[in-house]
Amino acid sequence: MPLASVIFYFSQQGSTKKIAEKIAEGLNQGENRCELVRFTKLTKDLEMIKNFDFSKYSLIGFGTPVYYFYPPHHLFKVFESLPDLSHVNGFLFCTSGGNPGACLYKIKNILDKKGFKIIDGYDKWIGLDQHRCYSHFKESALPSSLGHPNPGELAEAKEFGKNLIHKTLDPNSPEKKDFWSKDNKWAEGGWKGRSEPFMEKWFPEFKLNEEKCTQCGKCAELCPVDAIVLDPYPQWVKDCDRCYLCDLYCPEQAIECDWSKQCAFMDNILKRAKKK
Ligand SMILES: Cc1cc2nc3c(=O)[nH]c(=O)nc-3n(C[C@H](O)[C@H](O)[C@H](O)COP(=O)(O)O)c2cc1C
Ligand code: SF4
Ligand code: SF4
Repeated sequence: MPLASVIFYFSQQGSTKKIAEKIAEGLNQGENRCELVRFTKLTKDLEMIKNFDFSKYSLIGFGTPVYYFYPPHHLFKVFESLPDLSHVNGFLFCTSGGNPGACLYKIKNILDKKGFKIIDGYDKWIGLDQHRCYSHFKESALPSSLGHPNPGELAEAKEFGKNLIHKTLDPNSPEKKDFWSKDNKWAEGGWKGRSEPFMEKWFPEFKLNEEKCTQCGKCAELCPVDAIVLDPYPQWVKDCDRCYLCDLYCPEQAIECDWSKQCAFMDNILKRAKKK
């Protein structure tokens, strides 16, 4: 019987999307069929999951970018909302700037509770790494990931997809458990919910230059957690993933955050690394 699979992925800047599409291409061999579902906005995604018929598939994949060594914060809620998945095999993947930290391990921990059997996972694909903070570094730029995912990585993703077919059809395929599990110490203080608002404290406040802002709404549109409301200018109404893509993609550069503290911190780390 042909293999029916589905890949759920989140991708703000397009790299994880490219990898997901290549894995799907690999899974779409012969009669086998793979569908792609993109997570976009938390409220919409939770509703979609509630109505999704997971019983149609014998393989389910989840893909995400890495944000601060973890999956983007709001995806924890998405994974927690999934139903029992004990009937199905699964796989995990992410794209990062080269340091995926505990990203897949964190997802695995939640999906273990859903009875999900993970038969494969990969966290080495590199995506175009852009963050608002980077342009401010004085000492040295971080390694550039321009051009990633590159043709070699895309071919590897397709191969990964192809290999998943026989791994899924083989009832003796072992469970994959060896995800890098050491929680990053720096990130460990965060992500514990609003009682410990680590991200709010560590990252800059959102500052809007009303003279530059045209109230176009692009920032609110791209925010995955609807943290921005136009009234009539953008207001940040709740804590969020701190991706700063609202800032990066504002066509008027109207969002002016003060990164000096964070850049001094990163400059120090880079200086120490250079000395070693
Ligand atoms: C807010 C933010 C945090 C990030 N944190 C990390 C990180 O901890 N480690 C890393 O290697 N890359 C990090 N990156 C880079 C992204 O994981 C990488 O660019 C990813 O491929 C983006 O996926 P997308 O294009 O599908 O959105 C970060 C990027 C952003 C925007
Ligand atoms: S994207 Fe920029 S210009 Fe448009 S509403 Fe947001 S802050 Fe204003
Ligand atoms: S940084 Fe901006 S786009 Fe990203 S989650 Fe927060 S408000 Fe939304």
